[in-house]
Amino acid sequence: MDKENKIILILLAVLVIGVFIEVSLTQKVSWEIKAVSSDIKDLGTSIKGIDTSVKNVDSSIKTVKTSLEESTRESFRRDMQENGRRMLLMDYTGKFSRWDAVTKEVDGLDKNLQDAMNHNSELAQSIQTFRSTYIPKLKDAAGKKDMKNFEVVWNETYNSCIGCHKGASAPSSAFEVLSEISNEVDQLSG
Ligand code: HEC
Repeated sequence: MDKENKIILILLAVLVIGVFIEVSLTQKVSWEIKAVSSDIKDLGTSIKGIDTSVKNVDSSIKTVKTSLEESTRESFRRDMQENGRRMLLMDYTGKFSRWDAVTKEVDGLDKNLQDAMNHNSELAQSIQTFRSTYIPKLKDAAGKKDMKNFEVVWNETYNSCIGCHKGASAPSSAFEVLSEISNEVDQLSG
C-alpha cells in the first residue's frame, strides 16, 4: 500500500468513527429528549390534577361561604323574630303594670339588637342608632311606671321598627308579624 492510499484509509476510518459517534450521540440525546418529554407529560398530568384539586377546594370554599351567609341571614331573621316577641311581651306586661318584667324585656331587646348587629354588617350602624335612641327611652319610661307614657314610647319604638323595614325593603313577613303584634295589642286595650 502506498502512502496516499494509507492516508485515504485513515481518513475514511476517522470519518466512519466520526459518523458512529455522531449517530450514537444523537440517539442518546433523542432518548434523553424522550425521557424529558415524558417527564413533562407526567408533570402536565399532575398539574392538571392539582388544577382540578384547586378548583374543587375553590368550590368547597364557595359552598361553605354560601351556607355561612345563609346561616347568618337566618340568624338575623331569628333575631328579628325575637325582637317582635319582646316588643309584644313588653306591651302586655306594661298593660298589667309589671314594670320589672317590662325592664327585663327591654334588656332582652337590647341584647337581641346587638346580636342582630353581629349578623348583619350592612345594617349594624342603623341598628346601633335604633338601640341608642329607643333602649334608654323604653328603660326610662318603665322606670317611671306610668302606663300612658310607656304606651307613647312603645308606639314610637314600634313605628321606628317599621320605618327601618320600609327603608331596608324588608320582606312582607316583617310587616305581617308587626301588624299581628299591633292587632294583639289593640285587642288587649280594647
Ligand atoms: C336597621 C333596620 C331594622 C330595624 C331597626 C328593625 N328591623 Fe326588623 N327586619 C329588618 C330586616 C332587613 C328584616 C328582613 C330580614 C330577612 O328576612 O332577611 C327584618 C325582619 C323582621 C321581622 C320578620 C322576621 C321573619 O320571620 O321573616 C320581624 C318580626 C321584625 N323584623 C321585627 C322587628 C322589630 C320588632 C323591630 C323593632 C324593635 C325591628 N324589627 C327593627 C330590619 C330592621
